[in-house]
Amino acid sequence: MRGDAMGFQRPPGTQDILPGSAGDWQLVEATARELCRRFNYREIRTPIFEATELFRRGVGETTDIVEKEMYTFEDRGGRSITLRPEGTAGVVRAYVENKLYGEPDPAKLYYIGPMFRYERAQAGRYRQFHQFGVEAIGSADPALDAEVIALGWMFYREIGLEGVRVEINSVGTPAVRAAFRGRLLEFLEPLKDRLCEDCRKRMERNPLRVLDCKVDQDKFGGAPSILDSLDGECREHFEAVQGHLQAMDIPFTINPRLVRGLDYYTHTAFEYKAEGIGAIDAIGGGGRYNGLVREIGGPDQPGVGLGIGLERTVLLLQKLRQDASRAALDVYLVSQGEAAERETVRLLHRLRQAGFKADRDYARRSMKAQLKAADRLKARYAAILGDDELSRGEIALKEMASGEQRTVRLEELVHHLTELDRSHPETRTE
Ligand code: HAM
Repeated sequence: MRGDAMGFQRPPGTQDILPGSAGDWQLVEATARELCRRFNYREIRTPIFEATELFRRGVGETTDIVEKEMYTFEDRGGRSITLRPEGTAGVVRAYVENKLYGEPDPAKLYYIGPMFRYERAQAGRYRQFHQFGVEAIGSADPALDAEVIALGWMFYREIGLEGVRVEINSVGTPAVRAAFRGRLLEFLEPLKDRLCEDCRKRMERNPLRVLDCKVDQDKFGGAPSILDSLDGECREHFEAVQGHLQAMDIPFTINPRLVRGLDYYTHTAFEYKAEGIGAIDAIGGGGRYNGLVREIGGPDQPGVGLGIGLERTVLLLQKLRQDASRAALDVYLVSQGEAAERETVRLLHRLRQAGFKADRDYARRSMKAQLKAADRLKARYAAILGDDELSRGEIALKEMASGEQRTVRLEELVHHLTELDRSHPETRTE
């Protein structure tokens, strides 16, 4: 940040959400609230900062978040304070402190708000970002895991994002993980010298995270799977979750390498993934956390929840809209009659020389079929040339989106399109 004559700039990793995209944010937030209404989750708003110790205990000492990403400072009263890096720990703290126990029903809560992590900024990764999250505390029923996964799935659907994948895994209980850690270390030990520095560090502190490493992924082909270490109870829970997802027709894949970056998970862990934001594919995630409430000083109550990144959702939404509005072809040449067809060869060449993405029919289809092809190929314009037009030295230009048609002089076609282009640069193809 600079305060000189150049003026101030926003801190790295933060964003100004300007009026131009505020509508997208409102849509995303309204969808989240409406879904929570239908699923019977109620809103909770907790402080943006909490005692540092809450996150150390809740998120876990050996996680990247606690080790290197927290905004921690001492306030004027000498307390160690941290800007929340995620929402679950604070909600669980509030659940315990305010005794929100809904027994025998689970407390079903949701929140929308900013989170803070000191991460390396990149496309889709910020230091202040926003999450929509839900937490259901007080039941170990696998149907509740499935409900939470379904809520996230419907959220993306209702926003209009179709290509979102759901990956699930079971990370078992702490005892299962301890046993698996041993097997995993046996596998990793001989590879150690060839692993990246991060992985070597993780081997000591949090070996399960090693499997998550993007750099060394190709070396883990023969790694043991945590699914083989699950005990009977874990397996039963995991299978029940899958059964419920199937009953709701929610497609998912099992990813035994999915470990997540927070330590509180037990049993179910899941992520929503999508292509389109640079190297990032995780757009939301969550899981069950049966030990967390007790760890934070509350009763022994199980919980399950999810967190959805709103910047990533908005980015995908904007990309989707751009893709939809961008035409795939500038001009599709439609012609009928021999002379017109010969002229088409020349015109097409001229258009391409002028930089337009242009194509034509090579199947001698009827005019009507050629126009259909123009539509299917997402052409911005169809340029229609029959022998009649040709004899007058003209061509009909049809804007496909509006259906608007005008006649231009043949010699003017390239010039005319260039002018149109200049007034609507946003509609150019790539
Ligand atoms: P998380 O996977 O750490 O889980 O974060 C959830 C989502 O927040 C991510 O999938 C991503 O979309 C978004 N996110 C995380 N970090 C950033 C960042 N630096 N910039 C932009 N977006 C980001 C949790 O936080 C858990 N509390 C979720 C949960 C709730 N589990 C149980 N209950």
